Amino acid sequence: MKVTVFGIGYVGLVQAAILASVGHDVVCVDVDEEKVANLKKGIIPIYEPGLTPIVEQTCKDGLLNFTTDAQAGVEHGEVQFIAVGTPPDEDGSADLKYVLAVAKTIATYMTSPKIVVDKSTVPVGTADKVSVQIADVLASRSAELEFDVVSNPEFLKEGAAVSDCSKPDRIVIGTDNEASKAVMRELYAPFNRNHERMIFMDVRSAELTKYAANCMLATKISFMNEIANLAERLGADIESVRQGIGSDSRIGYQFIYAGCGYGGSCFPKDVQALVKTANDVDYKPSLLEAVESINYSQKQKLFSHLNTHFAQNLAGKRIALWGLSFKPKTDDMREAPARELMEALWQAGATVQAYDPKAMEECQRIYGERDDLILCGTKEQALKSADALVVCTEWPQFKAPDLAMLKSSLTHPVVVDGRNLYEPSMMKEKGFSYYAIGRGDSVKVAKK
Ligand code: UDX
Repeated sequence: MKVTVFGIGYVGLVQAAILASVGHDVVCVDVDEEKVANLKKGIIPIYEPGLTPIVEQTCKDGLLNFTTDAQAGVEHGEVQFIAVGTPPDEDGSADLKYVLAVAKTIATYMTSPKIVVDKSTVPVGTADKVSVQIADVLASRSAELEFDVVSNPEFLKEGAAVSDCSKPDRIVIGTDNEASKAVMRELYAPFNRNHERMIFMDVRSAELTKYAANCMLATKISFMNEIANLAERLGADIESVRQGIGSDSRIGYQFIYAGCGYGGSCFPKDVQALVKTANDVDYKPSLLEAVESINYSQKQKLFSHLNTHFAQNLAGKRIALWGLSFKPKTDDMREAPARELMEALWQAGATVQAYDPKAMEECQRIYGERDDLILCGTKEQALKSADALVVCTEWPQFKAPDLAMLKSSLTHPVVVDGRNLYEPSMMKEKGFSYYAIGRGDSVKVAKK
């Protein structure tokens, strides 16, 4: 089947490569000439395990092509995916200008019927706006061409994007048009393994499904962070509580890790966008507002532990930081807790010595050269003459450090652990001042 994907970002590129890998003929269109030129040379703009060989093979097979020529892209695909970004507006709502610009492009150049698929995470009602945009342009061209706008949200996780996309838990398709349903079924047939994974529904329900999924997961995390804050005050250990509740299959073990807050390109943006959508229809989403505000406070905790430990005197201190990305296996630093921490440390006059297995270049790109940021080649170098260590990301290589080396490298044996990687009793025994998240043992408990 001939497919066109507009927007070669995370979602667009992975989706295009996976569709090509099962034999569909895919053309990717982007306005970024440099990105397209690089992809033609095999240079992939993101770090994602397993993606490079698939892109290389499908390009070699002639099934994956990149272009800036929008007209050629529109002509190519019977199915036209919109996978461009929806950055948050100042008020938290998703900005649809790129989505609507693609709709306009499709309507301007189409000469045959098209199925337009919203893949970007877009607020409920966007498919209707895309339909109106296409219909308006077609009317201005006096062109009578059939089209249908389908919602097909993406559920991939960074770091596991290839397997999430090629082995999806579910394929949500929002449309009432029977012909579109048949085409989408054919398109995704190779991914519909073992049991029925395609879930058909109306467009608005499909759009809301994506937000509901991400907001539910963000809620689980903020819930656990709230219980962790309580555990600290009550002398309980969130790690034991996590195991205790996760064993209930109705709750499950996933997404109940307390930590220094969720980040990334989805949860923060999607929770904010759904709050905004709710406000627009005169509903106060108290639970979602709490999810967001708990996450905000949680991201301040790492700095607050350091500031308290060093008696509000962080000026001139050197802080080692392990982990910059918002989670392991990615170089993405969008909304990463490490950023909040670094910026607060700089504000307080401290210097950051940072190491991350993948995100060093990204950090350099975001913050450039500055005297108070030292990007170190190894995790050991980051510790040299540092006054304390903060762990922001649970990369496997941080999980079992040589504690004697750690202690001798640090000027003060202070470890702030935003991901609960170490055993509080062991850290105490080795002589560290150890601050974790919600581990009763790691803080002084005021018993009443
Ligand atoms: C998420 C969704 O999982 C995915 O389905 C959706 O399509 C896009 O958003 P992603 O942002 O890549 O994917 O990362 P994810 O692995 O979900 O982690 C999000 C954040 O939550 C990370 O900052 C992570 O550290 C945090 N998290 C996750 C916790 O703090 N505790 C947990 O138990 C799980």
